[in-house]
Amino acid sequence: MGKTTVLLALFLTIVLNVQKSFVIAESKVYIVYLGEKEHDDPESVTESHHKLLWSLLGSNESVHDSIVYSYRHGFSGFAAKLTESQAQQISELPEVVHVIPNTLYELTTTRTWDYLGISSGNSNSLLHKANMGKEVIVGVIDTGVWPESEMFNDKGYGPIPSRWKGGCESGESFNASIHCNRKLIGAKYFVDGLVASFGVLNRTENPEYVSPRDFHGHGTHVASTIGGSFLPNVSYLGLGRGTARGGAPRVRLAIYKACWLKTSSCATADVFKAMDEAIHDGVDVLSLSLGPRVPLYPETDVREITSVGAFHAVAKGISVVVSAGNAGPNAQTVVNVAPWILTVAASTLDRSFPTAITLGNNITILGQAIFPGPEFGFVGLAYPEPPFSGNCERLSTNPNNTMEGKVVLCFTTSPNTAITAVRNAGGVGVIIARNPTHLLSTAGDFPYVAVDFELGTDILYYIRSTISPIVKIQASRTLVGQPVATKVATFSSRGPNSVSPAILKPDIAAPGVNILAAISPNSPLNNEGFAMMSGTSMATPIVSGVVVLLKSIYPHWSPSAIKSAIVTTAWKTDPSGEPIFADGSNRKLADPFDYGGGLVNPEKAAKPGLVYDMTTDDYVMYLCSADYSDTSISRVLGKITVCPNPKPSVLDLNLPSITIPNLRDEVILTRTVTNVGPLNSVYKVVIDPPMGINMVVTPTELVFDSKVTKLSFTVRVSTTHKVNTGYYFGSLTWTDNVHNVAIPVSVRTQILQRYYDEN
Ligand SMILES: *[C@@H]1O[C@H](CO)[C@@H](O)[C@H](O)[C@H]1NC(C)=O
Ligand SMILES: *[C@@H]1O[C@H](CO)[C@@H](O)[C@H](O)[C@H]1NC(C)=O
Ligand SMILES: *[C@@H]1O[C@H](CO)[C@@H](O)[C@H](O)[C@H]1NC(C)=O
Ligand SMILES: *[C@@H]1O[C@H](CO)[C@@H](O)[C@H](O)[C@H]1NC(C)=O
Ligand SMILES: *[C@@H]1O[C@H](CO)[C@@H](O)[C@H](O)[C@H]1NC(C)=O
Ligand SMILES: *[C@@H]1O[C@H](CO)[C@@H](O)[C@H](O)[C@H]1NC(C)=O
Repeated sequence: MGKTTVLLALFLTIVLNVQKSFVIAESKVYIVYLGEKEHDDPESVTESHHKLLWSLLGSNESVHDSIVYSYRHGFSGFAAKLTESQAQQISELPEVVHVIPNTLYELTTTRTWDYLGISSGNSNSLLHKANMGKEVIVGVIDTGVWPESEMFNDKGYGPIPSRWKGGCESGESFNASIHCNRKLIGAKYFVDGLVASFGVLNRTENPEYVSPRDFHGHGTHVASTIGGSFLPNVSYLGLGRGTARGGAPRVRLAIYKACWLKTSSCATADVFKAMDEAIHDGVDVLSLSLGPRVPLYPETDVREITSVGAFHAVAKGISVVVSAGNAGPNAQTVVNVAPWILTVAASTLDRSFPTAITLGNNITILGQAIFPGPEFGFVGLAYPEPPFSGNCERLSTNPNNTMEGKVVLCFTTSPNTAITAVRNAGGVGVIIARNPTHLLSTAGDFPYVAVDFELGTDILYYIRSTISPIVKIQASRTLVGQPVATKVATFSSRGPNSVSPAILKPDIAAPGVNILAAISPNSPLNNEGFAMMSGTSMATPIVSGVVVLLKSIYPHWSPSAIKSAIVTTAWKTDPSGEPIFADGSNRKLADPFDYGGGLVNPEKAAKPGLVYDMTTDDYVMYLCSADYSDTSISRVLGKITVCPNPKPSVLDLNLPSITIPNLRDEVILTRTVTNVGPLNSVYKVVIDPPMGINMVVTPTELVFDSKVTKLSFTVRVSTTHKVNTGYYFGSLTWTDNVHNVAIPVSVRTQILQRYYDEN
């Protein structure tokens, strides 16, 4: 929030200063959304936008000055500079669906794929059956691409698919004829929305390439995670060495740069334009590692502009994969919650970087760090004594408290400030006691080792036990496999969904901690072209890679069928069979609000047996159930839609999950499954009800043959609880003894409805 506020404040000041002398009304950029296009011809669509704006502004010149973008491929609308009263006037026109101010979104391997069970060695694997994603085109909306990275080489690629209508745009340090190839088939950039709202790119403050070239590095990391080519012997400072590759190493990548500057921000007007172009260009999958800032909860609504863009993409068969956000571990922090989107949470890998801390009493404690060495010590070990007691941030205010040549133990929640303060006080390393954040970082040759409070306390007891405490720190090692449990990362945003509580979010989890992938050389994290990064931003491209492989095998599956396959087959235990935990201030067993269906299991997702499919009509029924007016829904869709009376129940939306936020005594809901496995199959139901909840499924057996491929069933859910409860979790599984089609069930009893419980 901080940086935006500052930018915005500066911008307003400039405008207000101008106002003093010229008395012009302040204008801002608004996105005017008009629903589905009236014409197929993009030129006529643009012309209709100009006419509409002309009717308001009265001259061609002012239309020209006002308009920022015309959205004209996937949907219709425009971005324009308007005063508040003009925006109000335009929102009252009958053809206008809604008018939304341009805002800022933020950007939310080597081992990953083997851990998830997609090994490249096995010729029977999903990777080989899917031809490594060959012929599938994935659009990545992010900070651009560093095209020289070896991960984007097109060795062994055939010609670009003829259906591709996109292009490669030249710009600063980016020459389309050199930098695009048969793998990197598209590259465009969108900056007008950012510039119109937030001023010109100040090149002194924010060095950038005004082209698809990635200054930041985030987009390169994401794109190479989805589809990087095989590259042997990759490591980060010697850690995590192995063969790097993306999830679908033969996919075609189309890069849409809509996120800029060191502030890692993307203007919604630019993201919306990128979606419009991507739909036109012919992508099969869209991957967005970005989202609105929380806690602006209304901005995660389905009417929110990127959800609208995603709706049109999904209606055209394009899967949209988006990150859940990095605002965990608090509840109700998940963003990108529309039911047509696949929303991704982040988990840890079975890889860690234990770093030995040996104390003068010869006791060794294993912390975590990304410290390449060399080994360090023995040197003095210190603890900031009262009144600072472990608070290293305040070291700088006490000139007497020198840490010259010492490693310092800190108990803190802001490691970065602590590291700076210890360095300024002459310290040579830091041990930080904290709750797990899953955010390790390097501080160059300055060792920064994290431990928990228990181990931190052990170190403190040692310090207090001796007059001259000393410590030795060894280089971090790479530990792969057991015995460390998989966890949903602390930072990963959690459900329940505050906008539409009956829609389970997030949908799925994937590894998003310490993911090694390509980076641009400008990034401070760069080490020989690679960097380790963490975030739901990193988990998202892993699921996008899996979606690519599924699209490759099943080109005719709808986005919801693909989503269902991924959710119903997910791991509830990690690949070694151990339960998955969720980290926060307390470590607990993970539940659907942490990881949706569970941890993505690519091989199983390719053979789901049954899918919970949906079409655009189902999403329309969802909109009808969710209190949108008929006109508002009609406009989103571009055709007249009258919602049925009575309104459909949101609980009947054919999601691969059941979430009942307000069960009073009993509800009956319906689901429909489609057989995509062997024709003659018999499935039996297995119910694991949430605590205190009764579930009756009718029928209990589903018989499919060559004629019957789709069957419905009902679920009667009732509560035995006498009070308002929190959520309890269970599952509903259809099994033919080969396929286990499991959906998560989450139920909250509300005897008193619409009640805020804080007694
Ligand atoms: C304004 O633009 C429209 C369409 O581009 C054109 O037909 C018309 O002649 C223009 N009017 C003036 C006064 O330039
Ligand atoms: C881009 O590369 C092509 C091929 O090497 C070259 O002919 C052209 O001059 C380059 N364009 C620019 C703007 O550098
Ligand atoms: C860009 O930023 C620099 C450093 O803050 C400042 O000196 C310069 O005036 C700015 N340029 C513009 C065009 O705003
Ligand atoms: C991998 O790279 C490291 C460091 O660049 C080098 O020392 C090592 O010999 C390489 N290993 C192989 C198998 O190429
Ligand atoms: C620690 O181990 C070293 C070498 O094994 C030994 O010489 C030393 O006496 C030990 N120190 C203590 C305090 O046990
Ligand atoms: C630093 O030490 C000197 C001498 O002991 C003392 O006078 C002074 O108050 C101390 N300063 C702080 C900030 O503690």
